[in-house]
Amino acid sequence: MKNCWYDGKTVIVTGASSGIGKDITEKLIKEHRCRVIGIARNEERLLALKKALGVRSDRFTYYTFDVSVKENWEDFAKAVKSENLKPDILINNAGILPKFDRFLNYTVDELDKAMHINFYSCLYSMNALMPVILQSDSAAIVNIASSAALCSLAGTSVYSASKAALKSLTDAVREEYRRDCYIGLVCPGFTKTDIFRNQGAPVGSTAQKAMDFISTDCERMCNLILKGMKNKRADMVFGADAHLMSVGNKLLGTVCSHASSAVMKASGLDLFAKVFK
Ligand SMILES: NC(=O)c1ccc[n+]([C@@H]2O[C@H](COP(=O)([O-])OP(=O)(O)OC[C@H]3O[C@@H](n4cnc5c(N)ncnc54)[C@H](OP(=O)(O)O)[C@@H]3O)[C@@H](O)[C@H]2O)c1
Repeated sequence: MKNCWYDGKTVIVTGASSGIGKDITEKLIKEHRCRVIGIARNEERLLALKKALGVRSDRFTYYTFDVSVKENWEDFAKAVKSENLKPDILINNAGILPKFDRFLNYTVDELDKAMHINFYSCLYSMNALMPVILQSDSAAIVNIASSAALCSLAGTSVYSASKAALKSLTDAVREEYRRDCYIGLVCPGFTKTDIFRNQGAPVGSTAQKAMDFISTDCERMCNLILKGMKNKRADMVFGADAHLMSVGNKLLGTVCSHASSAVMKASGLDLFAKVFK
């Protein structure tokens, strides 16, 4: 990807220790000469990423904090100012996928946690960092939501709600700042990352194989995201499953959710067993 507007820019990436955030970080540094400020909690993995970047490792710095805590963003914004980091782009990528389950089987703490990590973290980061991002002549914010924001599936109530909230926030802020800042929303479908680690599907199980079958490769997903960013696309829906959910929901509304439930049920996978009990 040559001559791209974000070549050489300074980018903040949340969730840089794993999956999509890690791959995007590597690509921004290796292919676009960007400086990346990564954020996540697992220092071991961030350090491993820095080492793996070899001669380019000086282009990667990281901060370890929990993105769901408002005060952490206030402290980070102070550090950005005092260390004169001058970020151009913020990529809100950190997120979790709670175990597929029925709404009443989640505790309120679990629901709160998912909303805070997937939605409030982005609200806090945008509130804390937009003033400094807007000073850049390449100001940009990219929020990684999910196809779940476009069509809610049974078993994903809080995940879908958190991502739909992020979509609404992004759409409104984009409209308000359209002259000052590129604001993109990504709705990926299933992507091969460790996000499914808590779903209880052992490696090699039918459930794992089925998830792999419908999932897009992480590297391909990251290439699509970076290409979408290059073209300053506002809405980015990536992955065959995500397109199906997006179009299905537009055309069929709740019938699309019913059809998805029927497929999940018919699959007989343990993964969804509790959802349809
Ligand atoms: N994979 C998919 O199928 C898929 C589909 C649609 C959307 N997405 C979205 O894509 C994004 C990335 O997911 P992924 O698949 O790459 O998952 P992943 O491999 O599990 O990575 C998640 C990242 O988020 C970070 N994170 C989670 N909670 C955090 C917290 N409280 N504070 C700071 N960092 C936190 C993790 O870092 P630490 O653990 O080190 O803190 C990790 O770096 C998520 O927003 C997810 O919802 C994924």
